[in-house]
Amino acid sequence: MQIVRQLDPLRDALTAFRKTGSKIGLVPTMGALHAGHMRLVEVANEQCDAVVASIFVNPTQFGEGEDLDAYPRQEAADAALLEQAGVQLLWAPTADEIYPEGFATNVSVSGISDGLCGAARPGHFDGVATVVAKLFNQIRPDAAFFGEKDYQQLAVIRRMARDLDFTHEIVGVPTVRDPDGLALSSRNAYLTAEQRKNAAALPEIMREAATAIAAGKAVSAILADATTGLLASGFHKIDYLELRDANTLAVLNDFTEPARLFAAAHIGRTRLIDNIPVS
Ligand code: PAF
Repeated sequence: MQIVRQLDPLRDALTAFRKTGSKIGLVPTMGALHAGHMRLVEVANEQCDAVVASIFVNPTQFGEGEDLDAYPRQEAADAALLEQAGVQLLWAPTADEIYPEGFATNVSVSGISDGLCGAARPGHFDGVATVVAKLFNQIRPDAAFFGEKDYQQLAVIRRMARDLDFTHEIVGVPTVRDPDGLALSSRNAYLTAEQRKNAAALPEIMREAATAIAAGKAVSAILADATTGLLASGFHKIDYLELRDANTLAVLNDFTEPARLFAAAHIGRTRLIDNIPVS
């Protein structure tokens, strides 16, 4: 696996892939790889001839007081995993290759970025959309792979790609979970043993709420009960627990399909997010 940090050698490597007619798949990441990322690589390998992974801890998607400095960085271990998984090229750009001196452009996807994590983390999705647009232009993949764990992010990227005429496929890959149901996340590493045990209440309570909503129970009452349940299970702050249209992300006060339940909740110093289909 080649590890490339500058744009010129990146372009040379990509030209070589294209000369052989390879379908190029891109798996963008911020590193600290876990089985969820490796599933993206696996799906990319199934659908493409050459897989490019990127690792860049993107400062513009972190708000003030968020965990940019603490975010786990372990490039050597990540590179070993990616190589073992058959990734052909690791794009690990320097900050200058992404944000050169005087960088002044912002990609902002209005509407779909506004609620949920967009409300709790102002500016987050501008940072995501901007860096992903840059990665799409730098790699020009035939397909790009993102986890459904960050479902709003996936929706923002799909809209950005449509609006800015990126024509490659955007592939959403189902969330990978630990046996107790907790969605895999690089931020799970922040949890103490007790918090990790309690964190399983998030998917469990969401699953119960989704079942009750699908059975026709009043959405607002179910969400209120679920919030109480989370607060009783070790979570101390709920940013949101909402039923939304799975395509438009519009708020649903009553159950209509396609629907998805979204949550973000704080346990200790860790903010966990999750989402599941309601059907
Ligand atoms: O999901 C992530 O890891 C990041 O938000 C992404 C898509 C790599 C952009 O920095």
